[in-house]
Amino acid sequence: MSLAHVRIADIAQHDGQTVTLAGWLYNLRKSGKICFPILRDGSGIIQCVAVKANLPEETFEALKNLTQESSVKITGKVRAEQRATGGFELDVESCEILQRVPEETPYPITPKDHGIDFLMDHRHLWLRSRRQFAIGKVRHEVIKATRDYFDENGFTLVDCPIFTPAACEGTTTLFEVDYFEDEKVYLTQSGQLYNEANAMAFGKVYCFGPTFRAEKSKTRRHLTEFWMVEPEMAYATLEDVKELAEGLVCFIVQRVLANRRTELAILERDVSKLEAITGPFPRISYDEAVKILQRKGSEIEWGSDFGGTDETLLAEEFDRPVLVEKYPAQVKAFYFQPDSERPELALGVDMLAPEGYGEIIGGGQRIHDYDLLLKRIEEHHLPKEAFDWYLDLRRFGSVPHAGFGMGIERCVAWMCGLEHIRETIAYPRMLYRTRP
Ligand code: 4AD
Ligand code: MG
Repeated sequence: MSLAHVRIADIAQHDGQTVTLAGWLYNLRKSGKICFPILRDGSGIIQCVAVKANLPEETFEALKNLTQESSVKITGKVRAEQRATGGFELDVESCEILQRVPEETPYPITPKDHGIDFLMDHRHLWLRSRRQFAIGKVRHEVIKATRDYFDENGFTLVDCPIFTPAACEGTTTLFEVDYFEDEKVYLTQSGQLYNEANAMAFGKVYCFGPTFRAEKSKTRRHLTEFWMVEPEMAYATLEDVKELAEGLVCFIVQRVLANRRTELAILERDVSKLEAITGPFPRISYDEAVKILQRKGSEIEWGSDFGGTDETLLAEEFDRPVLVEKYPAQVKAFYFQPDSERPELALGVDMLAPEGYGEIIGGGQRIHDYDLLLKRIEEHHLPKEAFDWYLDLRRFGSVPHAGFGMGIERCVAWMCGLEHIRETIAYPRMLYRTRP
């Protein structure tokens, strides 16, 4: 594809040439006979130089009075400039203004500090800022790396439905939707149950899509709509899950470090923290984790789940992600395979990211025995009729199988070193936020 204009990201290929850039006015500096419109185009930012003496009167005046975020095409000669960010400037020859933002209604986001609520209300515009742009690029890299990792390791993408008849991760966090003729369905919490069926057809699969949790927790780690990637493998165990999860995370970190240095610099991310992420990751049992937490002053008792603070306390002990395995079955979902030596434990594993980013991966080995699964469905008071197809998987060639889910936003927050998960997705959905 070729456009009539050049992308700022490709400017180096055009040194000395006259080109047209198409973008938006990011900023403007001026001093009498010269002005410097700073243009962004979604691929980069460049400073243009408009000299009054070299331009028709109206061109210079138009540029000098241009308002922030007006859309404009600027034609000029590309000149290498060591001091410029990006290494080039553009000497303006002409310009075409597509829409000038009127003075009376200026672009609402200015270089001054705005409160977070104001910025969130203007999220559709806030995305244009440098920081948000950098985060978006890192998110893209994380997703691309994730897909490449699975694609290159023999996994087939099989997407799972969003309208579902049953709960996967507990009935308390379901969003109910009115379907036709009084039928109720739920927005999916996880593609896992379908993934298990898909794994019996394709061996190794992954699904990657939006998932929903009606979680009334207003924390820096929770969204009500988030993207999860979920691999699932037939003939696999908890051990395979740990290995795959570790491999995935190392792969993502390497890709982000290799391709997104500029963005990490904009975000002032301490990259030494990411450079330290190499395998093998420490592996501890839930039992050990409880002991560490108690030693560190937590009031946790054996048998309860970790809270956000516990996760942070635990992760502090390590400079890389830690895998915590074999939780008490009572705190985990209905589908976990029990440990053969201690059936009160579930063969599940969570990966906790360092630096306080909490659980980024959760998964484990699934029950493959029909009777046991049926018993669990009953114990959890789940409607058996909604799970009849899921039980079928244990009737027709059942095998040990395992998988996990990784929350993309939590991973991106960690890569970028963000304080809050809300900036990792273009339009975050949270307890009190469904706009814009
Ligand atoms: O631990 P979770 O609930 O696991 C499952 O849903 C499994 N069925 C996945 C599987 O085995 N196929 O969620 C997995 C991950 C968490 O580790 C976390 O990264 C992310 O999804 N996550 C959230 N991210 C943002 N906001 C929320 N409310 C999240 N809940 C879970
Ligand atoms: Mg979990």
